Amino acid sequence: MNYSQPKVGVGLGFRTPLYQEIMNNKESIDFLEVITDQYIYAIPEKVELLLETGKHFPLIPHGVGMSIGTDMPVDADYLQRTVDFVEKTDGPWFSDHLCFTKAPDVDIAQLTPLWFTEEMVEVVCRNVKQVKEYTDRPFLLENITYYFPIPLSEMTEAEFVTRILEKTDCGMLLDVNNVHINSVNLGFDPYEFLNSIPLERVTQVHIAGGTRMQGVILDTHGSAVSKEVWDILKFVVRNAPVKGILLERDQNYPTFQDLLDELNIARNIFNQYS
Ligand SMILES: [Fe+2]
Repeated sequence: MNYSQPKVGVGLGFRTPLYQEIMNNKESIDFLEVITDQYIYAIPEKVELLLETGKHFPLIPHGVGMSIGTDMPVDADYLQRTVDFVEKTDGPWFSDHLCFTKAPDVDIAQLTPLWFTEEMVEVVCRNVKQVKEYTDRPFLLENITYYFPIPLSEMTEAEFVTRILEKTDCGMLLDVNNVHINSVNLGFDPYEFLNSIPLERVTQVHIAGGTRMQGVILDTHGSAVSKEVWDILKFVVRNAPVKGILLERDQNYPTFQDLLDELNIARNIFNQYS
């Protein structure tokens, strides 16, 4: 794996309702992560507007629909559009989730966990190989949340992630909120998980806040980052060659100053621990 990516700092997930505030606070946001799927089938004007915004911030494409864990080749048209978009935005890397969103011919439009099996390792590795045939830009895989122990698993999630990252020589987008949520919902030690994966492959980190409901935390990106997540972030920044930290916020928006305050906390952690 090529570890020479630039440090991009602390960024914010680009969401349309936040556009004006983002432009008004350019100096406080180091980069924007953009949802690939919102642009690869969009009208040219929408992409142009984004690229105009990109004159003020580095843009990093983040996909939700590649479905790297579906047992069939990645959709060639989707992949070509993604790679073209990555080139247009000049993203230092691009990412999608370690999950599946498509059963053959059916788009279930949901980040769905994979079985932690040898067979799935092979499927994902084969599909990542296909992605890498389209581009030399680094491709990162992100860990997702899931809400029940995965049946028929032959290994732990940490072993599964490790096998895939090492076999594909890929980097990781480590969502520390997802680690926290899974650790609470499934009852494991988040630090044991982190010590069991190849942290040297973590290029980017996601932070976010979930929603507690009847004893379970849901991955809503709809509340403030919790103390537990800040603590996990410190651990990760201290132990991994993180190049960028990204705040994801998708609903229940607070004031923009609240988001800037969270970016500042992340920036202080990045400066202090990396
Ligand atoms: Fe995430």
